[in-house]
Amino acid sequence: PRHLLSTADLTPAELTTLVRNAHRHKDDVKSGTGEIPHSLRTALAGRTVAMTFSKRSTRTRVSTEGAVAALGGIPMFLGKDDIQLGVNESLYDTAIVLSSMTAAIVARVGPHSDVADLAKHSTVPVINALSDLYHPLQIIADFLTIAEVYPSGSTNSLGLEGLKIAWIGDANNVLFDLAIGATKLGVDISVATPKGYEIPEEMRGVIDQAATTTPKAGRLFETTVPEEAIKDADILVTDTWVSMGQEEETAKRLKAFEGFQITSELAKRGGAKENWAFMHCLPRHPEEVSDEVFYGPRSVVFREAENRLWAALSALEAFVVNKGRI
Ligand code: CP
Ligand code: NVA
Repeated sequence: PRHLLSTADLTPAELTTLVRNAHRHKDDVKSGTGEIPHSLRTALAGRTVAMTFSKRSTRTRVSTEGAVAALGGIPMFLGKDDIQLGVNESLYDTAIVLSSMTAAIVARVGPHSDVADLAKHSTVPVINALSDLYHPLQIIADFLTIAEVYPSGSTNSLGLEGLKIAWIGDANNVLFDLAIGATKLGVDISVATPKGYEIPEEMRGVIDQAATTTPKAGRLFETTVPEEAIKDADILVTDTWVSMGQEEETAKRLKAFEGFQITSELAKRGGAKENWAFMHCLPRHPEEVSDEVFYGPRSVVFREAENRLWAALSALEAFVVNKGRI
């Protein structure tokens, strides 16, 4: 089966289609017919989707369960204390057993190798619900959000080429996949991290590789100065400075990231575009973004969170219902 482990698994055209399908389902349900197409409503009838989550989740869990239900299936949430995985049973055995009984596996893991191993041995599609390297469902929702904020009117592309994202904060899983997606969609991305927290060399290679998939690739810039990244940016983005699993480094990280909090003052000093928008995958902590930005008029964070539902629906449609034919 075809799996969705990272945005790198998608061609630029496929990523575009996933975002457009998410957009269409959202429009149909919220302002059109009130429903997703009839053929999809029963697409997973009588089937289950296993959701093996070794970490907490609000958005990914609720959006995936909602999307499975919308397709007529039954989501089966399997938290780390519910099943034998990792304690009493190997990934290999678990992958074989789960895939013999379910339509798909949606997995949130620590090391990316865990979800890659599940995929290797699973006979049903595996969707990465966040690993330490990637978060593809978030990226589909993020580009849907960007497409809503900067609508293009183009019928066969998202029309985002030439936009600039500024990422201010940690070089983490969400950034890696966002950078891959931006590159593929022709969006420039400027990343400011403190010294010592830069994008790892190997990941830079993956992002460079994404740039070879399209003649109109977006460019990646890196700096340790937030103002430099912000110059002329259309979208300012950040995420927690302490990802799940890094809790022991909290004090060290909070110190290292001093000066990286996104505030209106920083956006102005850095010279962001006049109508810059603010995004954050959530959950959010006040240290990385001020209340005045997070709850302010430029923030689209709650629209972005809702878009996780439409992204999950689009990904399940493509990878589970249509078996990876996008
Ligand atoms: N953005 C995101 O993945 O949120 P959850 O951890 O709540 O799923
Ligand atoms: N970078 C964060 C994202 C949470 C959705 C983490 O991995 O904890």
